[in-house]
Amino acid sequence: MAMNRLHRKICRSEEWAERMHGTTLPWATRDVDLTGNVLEIGPGYGVTTRWLAPRAGALTAVEVDGTMAADLRDTVGAELGVDIRHGDGADLPFPDESFDAVVCFTMLHHVPTPAEQDRLFAEAARVLRPGGAFAGIDSRMSLRFRLIHVGDTLNPVDPLTLPARLGAAGFTGPGTELGERSYRFRAGRE
Ligand SMILES: C[S@@+](CC[C@H](N)C(=O)[O-])C[C@H]1O[C@@H](n2cnc3c(N)ncnc32)[C@H](O)[C@@H]1O
Repeated sequence: MAMNRLHRKICRSEEWAERMHGTTLPWATRDVDLTGNVLEIGPGYGVTTRWLAPRAGALTAVEVDGTMAADLRDTVGAELGVDIRHGDGADLPFPDESFDAVVCFTMLHHVPTPAEQDRLFAEAARVLRPGGAFAGIDSRMSLRFRLIHVGDTLNPVDPLTLPARLGAAGFTGPGTELGERSYRFRAGRE
């Protein structure tokens, strides 16, 4: 797993869950219809998945780390009926146009190379139905953020270049909005 011990502790903490559930996720998904068939890429320890599950019509989550995927299957999978898959967001095991919404939260910077990030965007576009939405957040770079990631995979996505990358992946109307510590993004599909 590409997360150091401090980072893993933060991602499992009450403080992280409170911030994500209280402000970050409502902001990230504002105006996104989550009531259909939703795919989450990179659920990690399931903090974001737990918030999504009661809001989604049906929820599937794809996690690249096999141990985390197995743990999630036993917890949020069993408790909340989420379909947890062990897989790679850059090579999704779903047919074209399978989902009404695709989301990912604080995971893009964990994808090791820009080429893999672009493959993930193209896969998200492929599995999204026309009229659906791809949305999420990632962190803005700071000294604190870099320190948390010492020894981790850290491949930041520049929010200023993200719209062009999402357009190249096949999305329409891509946009980003900067927040204090994060930025959110949203794109559609025709
Ligand atoms: C920092 S965690 C974020 C977890 C959760 N979304 C949250 O915000 O609390 C990032 C997660 O993305 C997963 N991940 C990284 N690359 C991935 C990929 N290509 N496909 C699916 N999951 C991936 C990592 O294994 C990790 O569990």
